[in-house]
Formats: sequence, C-alpha cells, structure tokens
Amino acid sequence: MDEHGATLQIGDRSLELPAVPAHQGNSGVDISKLRAAEGIVTFDPGFANTASAQSTITYIDGTAGKLTHRGYAIEELANSCSFLEVAYLLLFGHLPNKNQLEQWQDSMKRHSLLNEELKRFFNAFPKRAHPMAILSSATNAISTFYEEYHDPQDEEAIVQSAQRLLAKMPTVAAWSYKKSTGFPYIYPRNDLSYVENFLHMMFALPTEPYHVDPVITKALNVLLILHADHGQNCSTATVRFVGSSQANLFASVAAGMNALWGPLHGGANQKVVEMLSDIANDPDATTESYIARAKDKNDPFRLMGFGHRVYKNYDPRARILKKFADDVLDRVKGDDPLLEVAQQLEETALNDEYFASRNLYPNVDFYSGIIFRALGFPLRMFTVLFAIGRLPGWIANWKEMNEDPTTRIARPRQIYIGEESRKFVPLHQR
Ligand code: CMC
Repeated sequence: MDEHGATLQIGDRSLELPAVPAHQGNSGVDISKLRAAEGIVTFDPGFANTASAQSTITYIDGTAGKLTHRGYAIEELANSCSFLEVAYLLLFGHLPNKNQLEQWQDSMKRHSLLNEELKRFFNAFPKRAHPMAILSSATNAISTFYEEYHDPQDEEAIVQSAQRLLAKMPTVAAWSYKKSTGFPYIYPRNDLSYVENFLHMMFALPTEPYHVDPVITKALNVLLILHADHGQNCSTATVRFVGSSQANLFASVAAGMNALWGPLHGGANQKVVEMLSDIANDPDATTESYIARAKDKNDPFRLMGFGHRVYKNYDPRARILKKFADDVLDRVKGDDPLLEVAQQLEETALNDEYFASRNLYPNVDFYSGIIFRALGFPLRMFTVLFAIGRLPGWIANWKEMNEDPTTRIARPRQIYIGEESRKFVPLHQR
C-alpha cells in the first residue's frame, strides 16, 4: 500500500481502497464502500486485523513492547504521576497544571458519596456474589440517579458523569468487598487522597483507627496507572460498541466491566494466582506439567497471564511489574512462594519452543495478582482493581467516540452459513 491506499482486484474488476494514514504504527485501508460497490464483506474473526476507530489516546508498539498515552511513555507516567493525573491526561488530552489538578482532585472528593438508597442495592446481593457482578450492576444502578446527565452530546454532562463515575468507583468497589465480609460499609474521607481513600474504605473498621500505609498507597497508585488504558481491548471496544447506540456513559461502562470480567481479559489476574497456588500447593503439580498442559491442543487449559493479542514481545507493563513485585514483597510482605513459582514458570515458558515460536510473553496480569495479594487484597477483588484502573480509559474512549463526527452505530455484518430454506413443520407433527 502507498500513501494513496491500495487496489483490490476482484476477478477482472479493481477497486481503489483509500488510505487511512496513522501517525505511528499500522496505517489502514478504508473498506467501508466495499460491500456497496462489490457486494462482498471482509471477514476478520476477533477483529484482529480491523481498526474500529481513529484514536489519539493510546499507542502500542507490540513488536517493540512500547506503550504511550497521549504521547507519554508508560514508564514515565508510572514513575512520576498520580493515578488522577493520568486519568485527567487520558480524558482531556494533556497533563493538568497545578490548578487543574487541584480542581480535579476536589471534584473527586465532592462526588465520592453514594446515594443512601444504594445501600439497599448492595444488601440485595448474596454474600457470595462476585464483586465484579456488583460493580457492573451498581454502575448501571448509579445511572438511574443522574438521568439528566445522560445526553452523550452534552459536553458539560459528560464531564459531570465522568467525574461521578471516577469518584464513586472506589466507594462501590470497597462496598462490594464489605458486602462479602459482612462488615459495615465505610464512608469516604475527604482528607485522604484518591488511592488512600479507597484503601481506607476497603480495610478500615468503625471500631478502631486505620493507618493507610504509604508504601501500599504508592504501589497501588502505580498499579492503577499501568491498567489505565490499552487501546481497543475487549472491554474498551465493548464500551465504544454499546456507546455507539448513544447509550449513556454509565450503561456503556457497565457493559465494559462485564467484558473485563472474562478470564481471557481482566479476569486473568485472578486466574493467574489460582494457577500459581495450584502449582505451589499440589505436590503432583510442577511448572513443567502446567506448561505441558498449556501446549496440549486437546486440553483447553492456557497458561494464564501469558500471551497478548498485540504484544509479540514482553508487555512493558509486565516488565515494570516484575521488578516491582520483588520490591513490594520486600517492603510489605516478605517472601511469597507464589512469586518463586511465577518466576520459574516464566523461565520455563520463555525457554520453551512452543512459547518462543508464538511470541508468548508474560502480560500485565502475570505479576499484578502477586502484588495485589501482597498489598492485602482478596483474590476476588483483583479484577475489580483492574476495573478501577481501566475506568479512565473507558471514559476517554467513550468521549472520543462521541466527539468523532464519523462515528456510526457499531453494526458488523455476518457471513451466513445456516440452512437456506426449510419447510415449516407444525408442533404436533415434530
Ligand atoms: N497458553 C498457551 N497457548 C497460548 C496462550 C497461552 N496463554 N496464548 C496464546 N496461545 C497460543 C494459541 O493456542 C495459539 O496457538 P496456535 O497458533 O498453535 O493455534 C497462538 O498462541 C496464538 O494465540 P491466539 O489465541 O490466536 O491469540 P489471541 O490474540 O486470540 O489471544 C489472549 C490473546 C490474551 C486471549 C491469549 O494469549 C490468552 O488466552 N492468554 C491467557 C489469558 C490471559 O492471560 N489474558 C490476559 C490478557 S492481557 C490483559 C488483558 O487484556 O486483560
């Protein structure tokens, strides 16, 4: 393809496909007129080769293992920013100055309370409810309190809804955990930072003072930043997909949360730790036996935390987390046998021809679970933590989609391979 695009030859006819140039990475060809002109559609399972949007938010170079948000390297953001600064960057396209950041932090404090009526909502779930189910349901439920802010074309309403979602999510997440423990819900405190406040709502009890550990706060801040956005991944694509029908921001984000819950996406961080625990606790299980299962095409098992649709090199977030895991464990927990199992598993996999030839490397979920565990989070909260981190990315993508005049309702085609025409048989004759 040159800068003018590509020519598609169909029999003796040819069709010019205009170029859609990228600033970095893969450029595209515009096939939107193909069906109207030639009566054929493109077929791309999992949309692995399809760009669904032009975006200015996140760039991933999967071959070089590089990730940037609005042009800033993830390593620099993780080192130097607060999670709220990164959220602001994703949403508004630039880093906030001091004033803007103060106002932004302030708005988070003003909106962190939940309507008291929502307490009944949390109480309605069974104690065993997975917190991801509560999180996405509560996000939908919150939308019912703010119907006057649903218009996706109303800029002011979008910013208000974004602030409300970001501000309330730690409260919802912490309360979904409190629900599972039976302990009282803890209210947000405005003298604490965003991350401190979340830790306080998660772990404090009304009966005694709770000290928020600065080491844990710092570590969680980095983890949230590393999850903040990642291009058109399954949950973000879902948020855009749902939002393309002009569904409101809360409803679109709730859908994204459900997509994130799956074990091939954000649910992988929980599955990684379950897998490492199985290896550590089962005397018959070895890293080699798990690798052998992952390679066996007759076994549906996959090595959780390994592989990525985009990265064909080490995931830069996993690289940061691998170093970080040692540090955090040293400072807050001491040894964790699971870290050793993870390191062994990684080494065995990286030296195995199956994983090497398929460019399968650890992804962000491989080490994040071990760190979440060291910070004191229960296993079933891991994907919720991913969701709090990914929230700015979902909102930024939803906002970008609504601001883009080329957006149309998402409505892929299909290639029908079912029955052609069948004679109807009445019920009493079947
Ligand atoms: N274990 C064993 N084999 C694997 C794995 C794995 N974890 N991942 C990919 N493969 C194999 C796959 O079987 C296929 O082999 P073959 O070419 O012989 O058929 C080849 O590698 C290519 O895999 P794919 O399924 O075509 O890749 P994909 O882009 O469709 O899937 C993935 C990407 C992340 C879903 C997949 O790698 C996977 O299931 N990984 C485990 C789950 C996981 O860790 N998910 C978290 C992803 S990162 C964070 C996030 O997005 O949430």
